[in-house]
Amino acid sequence: MSTPSGSVTVPFTDQGQRFADDREAVLQLVSNALTEGPELDGPVVRRLEQRCAGMVGRRYARAVGSGTDALTLALRAARVGPADEVIVTNFSFVASAAPISVVGAIPVFVDIDPYSYLMDLDSVSSAITNRTRAIIAVGIFGRALPPKPFEDLASERGLTLIEDAAQALGAVRDGRLAGSLGQISAVSFDPLKVVGGITTGGMVLTDDPAIHERVRVLSSQGFNSCTGKFELLGCNSRMSTLNAAVLNYELDRYAQAFAQRRHAADTYLSGLAEHRYLRLPQCWAQHEIGNLHKFVIATEARGSLQRHLAKDGIETKIHYSTALSDLPIFCGSRSDAVHRSQIAARTVLSLPIHPQVSEQDLQYVVASINRWAP
Ligand SMILES: Cc1ncc(COP(=O)(O)O)c(C=O)c1O
Repeated sequence: MSTPSGSVTVPFTDQGQRFADDREAVLQLVSNALTEGPELDGPVVRRLEQRCAGMVGRRYARAVGSGTDALTLALRAARVGPADEVIVTNFSFVASAAPISVVGAIPVFVDIDPYSYLMDLDSVSSAITNRTRAIIAVGIFGRALPPKPFEDLASERGLTLIEDAAQALGAVRDGRLAGSLGQISAVSFDPLKVVGGITTGGMVLTDDPAIHERVRVLSSQGFNSCTGKFELLGCNSRMSTLNAAVLNYELDRYAQAFAQRRHAADTYLSGLAEHRYLRLPQCWAQHEIGNLHKFVIATEARGSLQRHLAKDGIETKIHYSTALSDLPIFCGSRSDAVHRSQIAARTVLSLPIHPQVSEQDLQYVVASINRWAP
């Protein structure tokens, strides 16, 4: 299969086709949402919250406007603020760390395990000082962190453990679901996530009633509907009935979407196993099921491979091209030895793994990569 130069044969995502097979069902959800009302924070949203809490084994869930808001609200609810240090991975989307700076605290970046790209526990441990208030434990690329070692470390050192499960909903590690790690978890329902809405969305999950209550008030302009008073300086971060209706629908389809992603991952893993110049992701470590949000390969000759694939009409992305400590926006941050995350930023390449990618597309991508050498 060849393509006229510049045209895309296999897109990285195919949002236009996302509801191609069930447009009628989704239009019915829209119609129901229009008649059900209220538009924000209604019973459909409550149902989504209950389902998410039940799914990951938390007592409370609060739907908010985005995963970024969920992390910011988690930090504020935990009373993290100016001069506090918060430890976070050096290799993630910017939103894992930006909320730390937004609440006036100091991000402390730590290095990753070079195989899983997950933040490294020993590096977290060595970065703790007497100013450390919290750890943000990030489940990158749809993988969950081992819960017990992180929870043990946080509780031994008296730190708040916040989980950034933005990419990891559905992932399991050591029998625990992502979204259940530490005191507070933040999830993203951005349309490109494994469970994605039709607009941005997020969820704060916790077992602590005081944290839940503070998030509820902060996310509604500081208004406490129980007392009828504005009690805190908050923000407006709520979810619409429409988005929650689509998310409830997507939760119902999770198993099917996961099976499609797993098939794509297995096809890449077996088709590319013999390639001499690639490092394939560890998708199936012991006691772990990732949600396959991303399929990330690595090569020192990334530019050459990305150009080769683009010529064949295969769209790829780089998650992430810069280690967070190298971003000028984090100029007041601290970081120790972070060279593994800098190597990752130089070498990683994400292949298309969305549920709409066809068998033919997968074979086409595999064949194209196997024709490439640096
Ligand atoms: C690791 C990580 N954290 C936080 C976020 C922020 O989520 P949102 O885009 O819903 O604000 C994202 C979004 O992609 C993410 O990948």
